[in-house]
Amino acid sequence: MNLRASVVALAALVAAPAFAEGDPASGEAVFGRVCVQCHHVVNDAGDVLAGRANVRTGPNLYGVVGRVAGSVEGFRYGPSIVQAGEAGLVWSEETLVQYIPAATDFLKEYTGNARARGNMANQRVTPEEAADLVAYLTSLAPATN
Ligand code: HEC
Repeated sequence: MNLRASVVALAALVAAPAFAEGDPASGEAVFGRVCVQCHHVVNDAGDVLAGRANVRTGPNLYGVVGRVAGSVEGFRYGPSIVQAGEAGLVWSEETLVQYIPAATDFLKEYTGNARARGNMANQRVTPEEAADLVAYLTSLAPATN
Protein backbone atom coordinates (compact mmCIF):
# COMPACT_ATOMS: atom_id res chain seq x y z
CA MET A 1 0.00 0.00 0.00
CA ASN A 2 1.44 3.40 -0.90
CA LEU A 3 1.35 6.32 1.47
CA ARG A 4 -1.69 7.92 -0.11
CA ALA A 5 -3.69 4.69 0.11
CA SER A 6 -2.81 4.26 3.77
CA VAL A 7 -3.87 7.81 4.53
CA VAL A 8 -7.21 7.16 2.83
CA ALA A 9 -7.62 3.90 4.77
CA LEU A 10 -6.83 5.66 8.03
CA ALA A 11 -9.32 8.44 7.28
CA ALA A 12 -12.01 5.81 6.69
CA LEU A 13 -11.24 4.27 10.07
CA VAL A 14 -11.47 7.62 11.83
CA ALA A 15 -14.76 8.39 10.06
CA ALA A 16 -16.30 5.14 11.35
CA PRO A 17 -19.40 5.64 13.55
CA ALA A 18 -18.66 7.84 16.54
CA PHE A 19 -20.36 5.33 18.82
CA ALA A 20 -19.03 1.85 19.29
CA GLU A 21 -21.52 -0.95 18.72
CA GLY A 22 -23.36 -1.44 21.98
CA ASP A 23 -23.64 -4.76 23.74
CA PRO A 24 -27.27 -5.94 24.04
CA ALA A 25 -26.63 -8.12 27.11
CA SER A 26 -25.20 -5.17 29.03
CA GLY A 27 -28.07 -3.04 27.74
CA GLU A 28 -30.57 -5.51 29.16
CA ALA A 29 -28.94 -5.18 32.57
CA VAL A 30 -29.03 -1.38 32.43
CA PHE A 31 -32.68 -1.47 31.32
CA GLY A 32 -33.56 -3.71 34.27
CA ARG A 33 -31.71 -1.47 36.68
CA VAL A 34 -32.68 2.01 35.45
CA CYS A 35 -35.56 2.06 32.97
CA VAL A 36 -38.07 -0.65 34.08
CA GLN A 37 -39.70 1.44 36.74
CA CYS A 38 -41.19 3.63 34.00
CA HIS A 39 -40.92 1.80 30.67
CA HIS A 40 -41.68 -1.58 29.22
CA VAL A 41 -41.29 -3.14 25.79
CA VAL A 42 -44.48 -4.74 24.48
CA ASN A 43 -44.85 -5.84 20.88
CA ASP A 44 -47.89 -5.34 18.67
CA ALA A 45 -49.24 -8.76 19.66
CA GLY A 46 -49.18 -7.67 23.32
CA ASP A 47 -46.23 -9.87 24.36
CA VAL A 48 -44.18 -8.30 27.15
CA LEU A 49 -40.57 -8.45 25.92
CA ALA A 50 -39.07 -6.41 28.77
CA GLY A 51 -40.30 -4.95 32.03
CA ARG A 52 -43.79 -5.35 33.44
CA ALA A 53 -47.09 -5.21 31.59
CA ASN A 54 -48.80 -2.54 33.65
CA VAL A 55 -46.12 0.16 33.66
CA ARG A 56 -47.47 3.41 32.27
CA THR A 57 -45.20 6.24 33.46
CA GLY A 58 -43.13 6.27 30.27
CA PRO A 59 -44.07 5.21 26.73
CA ASN A 60 -43.68 1.67 25.40
CA LEU A 61 -40.15 1.43 23.97
CA TYR A 62 -40.97 -1.30 21.43
CA GLY A 63 -39.40 -0.30 18.12
CA VAL A 64 -38.16 3.01 19.52
CA VAL A 65 -35.04 2.98 17.35
CA GLY A 66 -36.29 4.28 14.00
CA ARG A 67 -39.52 5.60 15.50
CA VAL A 68 -40.72 9.20 15.33
CA ALA A 69 -40.21 10.86 18.73
CA GLY A 70 -43.31 11.34 20.85
CA SER A 71 -45.49 9.12 18.68
CA VAL A 72 -46.88 6.28 20.84
CA GLU A 73 -50.62 6.45 20.43
CA GLY A 74 -52.45 7.18 23.67
CA PHE A 75 -49.36 8.14 25.69
CA ARG A 76 -49.51 11.63 27.20
CA TYR A 77 -46.21 13.17 26.22
CA GLY A 78 -45.06 16.65 27.09
CA PRO A 79 -45.45 19.18 24.25
CA SER A 80 -41.73 19.55 23.48
CA ILE A 81 -41.03 15.95 22.47
CA VAL A 82 -44.15 15.92 20.30
CA GLN A 83 -42.96 19.15 18.68
CA ALA A 84 -39.54 17.57 18.04
CA GLY A 85 -41.18 14.56 16.39
CA GLU A 86 -43.30 16.83 14.21
CA ALA A 87 -40.12 18.67 13.25
CA GLY A 88 -38.66 15.38 12.02
CA LEU A 89 -36.91 13.77 14.99
CA VAL A 90 -36.64 10.02 14.42
CA TRP A 91 -34.78 8.17 17.18
CA SER A 92 -31.40 6.77 16.21
CA GLU A 93 -28.45 5.60 18.24
CA GLU A 94 -26.88 9.02 17.91
CA THR A 95 -29.91 10.96 19.14
CA LEU A 96 -30.81 8.47 21.89
CA VAL A 97 -27.31 8.57 23.33
CA GLN A 98 -27.74 12.34 23.71
CA TYR A 99 -31.38 12.33 24.82
CA ILE A 100 -31.37 9.65 27.53
CA PRO A 101 -28.94 11.38 29.94
CA ALA A 102 -30.15 14.94 29.19
CA ALA A 103 -33.69 15.00 27.79
CA THR A 104 -34.50 18.66 28.37
CA ASP A 105 -31.16 19.94 27.06
CA PHE A 106 -31.49 17.74 24.01
CA LEU A 107 -35.03 18.97 23.25
CA LYS A 108 -34.02 22.61 23.70
CA GLU A 109 -31.25 22.16 21.20
CA TYR A 110 -33.30 20.12 18.75
CA THR A 111 -36.33 22.41 18.71
CA GLY A 112 -34.30 25.62 19.02
CA ASN A 113 -36.70 26.61 21.80
CA ALA A 114 -34.93 27.64 25.02
CA ARG A 115 -38.15 26.93 26.95
CA ALA A 116 -38.51 23.37 25.67
CA ARG A 117 -38.79 20.79 28.42
CA GLY A 118 -38.69 17.02 28.57
CA ASN A 119 -40.93 15.06 30.94
CA MET A 120 -38.24 12.45 31.54
CA ALA A 121 -35.68 13.19 34.23
CA ASN A 122 -32.05 12.93 33.17
CA GLN A 123 -31.04 9.29 33.42
CA ARG A 124 -27.68 8.49 34.90
CA VAL A 125 -26.24 6.43 32.11
CA THR A 126 -22.83 6.76 30.52
CA PRO A 127 -22.55 7.04 26.72
CA GLU A 128 -21.42 3.39 26.68
CA GLU A 129 -24.46 2.30 28.69
CA ALA A 130 -26.72 4.32 26.39
CA ALA A 131 -25.18 2.60 23.35
CA ASP A 132 -25.73 -0.77 25.07
CA LEU A 133 -29.37 0.17 25.72
CA VAL A 134 -29.84 1.08 22.07
CA ALA A 135 -28.35 -2.28 21.02
CA TYR A 136 -30.68 -4.08 23.45
CA LEU A 137 -33.80 -2.20 22.33
CA THR A 138 -32.84 -2.79 18.69
CA SER A 139 -32.43 -6.52 19.39
CA LEU A 140 -36.05 -6.64 20.64
CA ALA A 141 -37.36 -4.80 17.59
CA PRO A 142 -35.02 -4.33 14.65
CA ALA A 143 -34.98 -0.75 13.38
CA THR A 144 -36.97 -0.39 10.18
CA ASN A 145 -35.20 2.60 8.69
C1 HEC B 1 -39.00 8.03 36.27
C2 HEC B 1 -39.55 7.53 35.01
C3 HEC B 1 -38.62 7.26 33.84
C4 HEC B 1 -37.44 6.54 33.84
C5 HEC B 1 -36.73 5.90 35.03
C6 HEC B 1 -37.01 6.48 32.46
N1 HEC B 1 -37.89 7.14 31.65
FE1 HEC B 1 -37.77 7.34 29.63
N2 HEC B 1 -39.45 8.48 29.63
C7 HEC B 1 -40.20 8.80 30.74
C8 HEC B 1 -41.25 9.71 30.36
C9 HEC B 1 -42.32 10.30 31.28
C10 HEC B 1 -41.11 9.94 28.97
C11 HEC B 1 -41.92 10.90 28.09
C12 HEC B 1 -41.11 12.19 27.95
C13 HEC B 1 -41.88 13.41 27.49
O1 HEC B 1 -43.11 13.34 27.32
O2 HEC B 1 -41.22 14.46 27.32
C14 HEC B 1 -39.96 9.15 28.55
C15 HEC B 1 -39.51 9.08 27.24
C16 HEC B 1 -38.48 8.27 26.80
C17 HEC B 1 -38.07 8.12 25.43
C18 HEC B 1 -38.74 8.77 24.22
C19 HEC B 1 -39.72 7.79 23.65
C20 HEC B 1 -40.61 8.30 22.56
O3 HEC B 1 -41.67 7.65 22.34
O4 HEC B 1 -40.30 9.29 21.89
C21 HEC B 1 -37.04 7.24 25.41
C22 HEC B 1 -36.28 6.74 24.21
C23 HEC B 1 -36.79 6.85 26.78
N3 HEC B 1 -37.67 7.50 27.60
C24 HEC B 1 -35.81 5.95 27.17
C25 HEC B 1 -35.52 5.65 28.49
C26 HEC B 1 -34.45 4.77 28.88
C27 HEC B 1 -33.54 4.03 27.93
C28 HEC B 1 -34.44 4.75 30.26
C29 HEC B 1 -33.47 4.03 31.17
C30 HEC B 1 -32.10 4.47 31.04
C31 HEC B 1 -35.52 5.61 30.71
N4 HEC B 1 -36.16 6.12 29.61
C32 HEC B 1 -35.87 5.82 32.04
C33 HEC B 1 -40.00 8.34 32.02
C34 HEC B 1 -38.89 7.63 32.46
